[in-house]
Amino acid sequence: MKYEKEVSRRRTFAIISHPDAGKTTLTEKLLLFGGAIQTAGAVKSNKIKKHATSDFMEIERQRGISVATSVMTFEYKDNLINLLDTPGHKDFAEDTYRTLTAVDSVILVIDSVNGVEDQTRRLVEVCRMRDTPIIVFVNKMDRDGKNRFDLMEEVENELKLSLHPMTFPINSGKDFKGVYNLFDKTLCLFTASTKADDEDTIDIADLSDEVLDAKVGERDANTLREDVELIEGVYGDLNVADYLAGKICPVFFGSAVNNFGVKEMLDTFIQVAPRPLCRQTSAREVCPDEDKFSGFVFKIHANLDPKHRDRIAFMRVCSGRFERNKYYHHVRMDKDVRFSNPYSFLARSKDVIEDAYPGDVIGLFDTGNFKIGDTLTEGENFFYTGIPTFSPEIFKELVNKDPMKTKQLEKGVQQLTDEGVAQLFTQFGGNRKIIGCVGDLQFEVIQYRLLHEYGAACEFRTLPYYKACWLTSKDPNKLGEFLRFKQQNSGEDKDGNPIYLAQSEWFLNTEISNNPDIQFHFTNEVNK
Ligand code: G4P
Repeated sequence: MKYEKEVSRRRTFAIISHPDAGKTTLTEKLLLFGGAIQTAGAVKSNKIKKHATSDFMEIERQRGISVATSVMTFEYKDNLINLLDTPGHKDFAEDTYRTLTAVDSVILVIDSVNGVEDQTRRLVEVCRMRDTPIIVFVNKMDRDGKNRFDLMEEVENELKLSLHPMTFPINSGKDFKGVYNLFDKTLCLFTASTKADDEDTIDIADLSDEVLDAKVGERDANTLREDVELIEGVYGDLNVADYLAGKICPVFFGSAVNNFGVKEMLDTFIQVAPRPLCRQTSAREVCPDEDKFSGFVFKIHANLDPKHRDRIAFMRVCSGRFERNKYYHHVRMDKDVRFSNPYSFLARSKDVIEDAYPGDVIGLFDTGNFKIGDTLTEGENFFYTGIPTFSPEIFKELVNKDPMKTKQLEKGVQQLTDEGVAQLFTQFGGNRKIIGCVGDLQFEVIQYRLLHEYGAACEFRTLPYYKACWLTSKDPNKLGEFLRFKQQNSGEDKDGNPIYLAQSEWFLNTEISNNPDIQFHFTNEVNK
């Protein structure tokens, strides 16, 4: 229990949302509360504006900027908070999914006007895979949004989340008057402001207090009384254990741009959000307060300067204490490595750190030794598990344009896929190399980087696949037979796992029902 004090004050989380719901704005307000930044507008959005989507260099440049804000660390009321940023662009969704494996909880931002959107659904699915505790922030209450009860129902039904309101709004849009805090029994009156800590909070003994009528008007006061009676009857007190188990999501209403409702959420967050927890590895469960250090790589960010093929590997510290210049065991490569310049990420700059504790994320300079899921320990052999890979959605054949550079091309493709930029499959019967990505943009990124970093020219030929499924079966003969029979549509991933490349949903469903002894998986796990 050497590191108990450090572990118990850490909260590591990510904010997730559909683009434009207000993730960047909320991040900025949280940093203002934490004193990590002084002025509004200091956090650059890593969101890529719609009209710039064809210009991937611009996107990569912005992603470069976003390395600095990949992890934002700040102190708030004696807690050390690590906020992990996630890319806003859907073509980089896999980066976001992997980042979610490195956090202990998330805050989900929902736009009160648009309600549940596409990206929200997918992100929540990923959270559900690990039962990650979720706090919901319903944003933009200053705009005419959906009815608050309808909105809660939409979130509950569409995202299959059970909500528990912690604050409740009085109207929305131009009639928005504030929120009632069901937990503290206080009334927070809405004032449009962007500064930290200037909310107008009023203590009211109970809802029958006439101060309420005086502040919000009799009609709205009565509506609030009815709403709260209904809510308290249905929900009761928050069961923190259910929240920690990912079964119940506390909900807050507010307006990030006006810094309204944010402090209530942050104050509750530090009280209830989980500290770093024990995590499963291939050998055993490893707990944060163990003496010995261990951690895993969940994201790799390349330096886009072609002269330096160096990268930054993001490592989540899971147990013990990480120290600068100490040798650690790189389990997959079975070799000892040390780092003289490990980074910690602050809102504005990257600082070299001396040590780090569970919950922290450190940036390690890498020249090609790391791939996603790699684990460092003090000698023990295990891998952190539960890091998912998802079926890509776009498939293209990689065509070598310069046979003299075959080796460079292969090396480049290996390294880029280690980074998690894309997935590589080799088709049986012909050995075609197939690159699978979640978004079209990555193909441009890959082509550019192969040429500029590895000197290898390539082309892509579109393939008519719809999904890649990983195959498993208790009966190796049945699986072997299927793969032989379906040569044109099967292959293996980089680690030699068999896959089926489905041309359409219809083909996939047919194969699933024709082959009951074979399991088709849409996700695969690194370090299974
Ligand atoms: P994202 O990171 O989730 O993509 O969203 P971001 O914070 O960039 O917010 C998207 C837009 O929504 C921004 O406007 C932002 O100002 C606005 N916004 C955020 N919170 C609120 C809120 O509580 N109320 C209202 N009315 N708007 C909000 P923009 O016009 O795209 O950018 P900007 O010109 O304001 O920077």
